[in-house]
Amino acid sequence: MSFTEVAATAARDPGKFWLEAARGLHWSTFPETAHDEAGDVWFPDGVLNTCYNAVDRHVEAGRGDAEALIYESPFTGRAQSYSFAELQDHVARTAGMIASAGVGKGDRVIIYMPMIPEAVFAMLACARIGAVHSVVFGGFAAPELAKRIEDCTPALVLSASCGFEPGRTIAYKPLLDKALDLASHKPPGTIIFQREELLADLVPGRDRDWAEAVAAAEPAGCVDVASSDPLYILYTSGTTGTPKGVVRDNGGHATVLHWSMRNIYGVEAGDTYWAASDIGWVVGHSYIVYGPLLKGCATILFEGKPVGTPDAGIFWNLVDKHQVKVLFTAPTAIRAIRRSDPDGTFIDGASLSSLSALFLAGERADPDTLLWIANKLGKPVIDHWWQTELGWPAIATCLGLGESEIRAGSAGHAVPGYRFRVLDDAGNPVGAGTVGNLLIEQPLPPGAFRSLWNNPERFAAGFVDFPGNYTTGDAGMIDADGFIHIMGRTDDIINVAGHRLSTGQMEEVVANHPQVVECAVVGAADDLKGEMPVGFVVTRPGCEDLEKVHGELVASVRGDIGPIASPRSIYFVDGLPKTRSGKILRNLLRDIINGKEVTVPQTIEDASVIDTIRQAVT
Ligand code: COA
Ligand code: AMP
Repeated sequence: MSFTEVAATAARDPGKFWLEAARGLHWSTFPETAHDEAGDVWFPDGVLNTCYNAVDRHVEAGRGDAEALIYESPFTGRAQSYSFAELQDHVARTAGMIASAGVGKGDRVIIYMPMIPEAVFAMLACARIGAVHSVVFGGFAAPELAKRIEDCTPALVLSASCGFEPGRTIAYKPLLDKALDLASHKPPGTIIFQREELLADLVPGRDRDWAEAVAAAEPAGCVDVASSDPLYILYTSGTTGTPKGVVRDNGGHATVLHWSMRNIYGVEAGDTYWAASDIGWVVGHSYIVYGPLLKGCATILFEGKPVGTPDAGIFWNLVDKHQVKVLFTAPTAIRAIRRSDPDGTFIDGASLSSLSALFLAGERADPDTLLWIANKLGKPVIDHWWQTELGWPAIATCLGLGESEIRAGSAGHAVPGYRFRVLDDAGNPVGAGTVGNLLIEQPLPPGAFRSLWNNPERFAAGFVDFPGNYTTGDAGMIDADGFIHIMGRTDDIINVAGHRLSTGQMEEVVANHPQVVECAVVGAADDLKGEMPVGFVVTRPGCEDLEKVHGELVASVRGDIGPIASPRSIYFVDGLPKTRSGKILRNLLRDIINGKEVTVPQTIEDASVIDTIRQAVT
């Protein structure tokens, strides 16, 4: 069926469509009901195990020798490949190790680990025993980790002694120790994977050594879970300093990810798929771990950077080495490669015959970068759009359904199952080509979130502004041919190198400094990272050592949130532009820093601050 036919079928009878898709998986009890409207639950009576579907069933189908997980670590020089049978063995033993720590179905397990195979074993192992994993990105600082420990109250924390960033080794254990001190919830234990490059000190009675614990454990089998049981919690930035714990179910998630591999990406079992992201983000959850493995593809776990490990040719060398069919990364990675290899010499020198397409997501793909890489590769380069809340692509060019038209500036059409609308602030539909609030009609398709951990009010808030619709937080427009164009966020979330961050959260950290009277943080356009945070700070009268305050503010953002949130600049100003009712005009600051024409609103309290801010930033 063509894309148009599939989209029409999904729209006509979504329940039938998704039940049919669910047949691509193994269910202990196949769902009789597609969707329970009252509770908005997909497959309410289905029973399955996600790990069984991602690992064991391929072994049982005779594909035990097929490649499943390929680890490439230019940071350490290690490379290792695991077949499905080997993966099953590692995952079963890791599941036994986790169970031996007293973790059972429904218990939460925090995974704070670098990009090593053990992290993937751990995610799948949790799924195997029905525990709920919550992976925390390694670039987050201890207080962020503490917030997550506090919120999901894990029965166990899994970590490693270290990770790597260019030129330095990141000791994870001191960060974990600090987070455990900060959090009021004290998990009964941790298990630490010791990497030979840097060994961690273990606290007797609390921290166990991974190698010893796994050696002592009995392999554990897959347990049945209800389709609607949580598979994982993934925290993402909202508009406040408290992250949102997006809860993902088992059955809906496995169904759509499995479906997406063929229909969106055009890959089949046996193909190699590479999402060059991190398991700490939703892209890593869906397309390093679950999606490719559910389909029976080989997936690449890459512990390196697009440039500098060792050079800008690493992506193309690995595509060739592993005959990658689909590569998925963030536009920032391509901008970094282009900056380092402007003529695309590494691309020209690599054999990319296996590659059918490059997919981009996570942030706006600027047309210049998109065109450059498309010309260099001579393959389709497909921008597609989604969010942590949704878990899988919502706007795309569905390669596997024969879609091929790529319209500049658009992320593609609505993926079958998604119904988009664009409304103005008053809730009126806008015409084709007019920008407004980008919304998705309820019910959301399978895989999309149905709750936020511990926070039903915050979850509900995503659906109140435009009743019957989920507010994506993005502005967008749909053109006359149904292509959807993303214009940017309507809230205080920014995307820095494909990492979703909250400027509100950064403001909370900056405002905590004793010399700061008030502040605003906005996203400034950045040639490499898409956006970067920039702070405007008013200090107390008499505060003279601004250089010292500057250093302390940068250090607190890095220390409280993480180095990924490092501000590009901090400007000390006499006052911030505000409305007469005291609301800071952040849009105005954003326009000034981005060199845009500034429209001064009638409601501004004191227009003279604009000139002083202009002077400060030039
Ligand atoms: N653990 C610890 N620190 C980390 C980290 C991690 N997992 N990830 C990033 N950091 C640190 C970096 O070392 C850097 O620290 P520094 O300020 O002391 O140099 C800081 O956080 C910012 O990192 P990053 O935003 O990655 O910038 P960079 O200059 O180190 O690298 C790119 C630039 C473009 C190479 C890099 O951002 C990149 O690979 N982007 C691709 C993005 C991506 O895959 N996103 C996933 C969503 S699909
Ligand atoms: P995350 O939850 O980290 O995946 O971030 C989701 C947000 O990233 C979206 O709401 C968008 O603002 C932005 N985003 C993701 N993909 C794209 C894209 N292809 N184009 C523009 N913005 C994107």
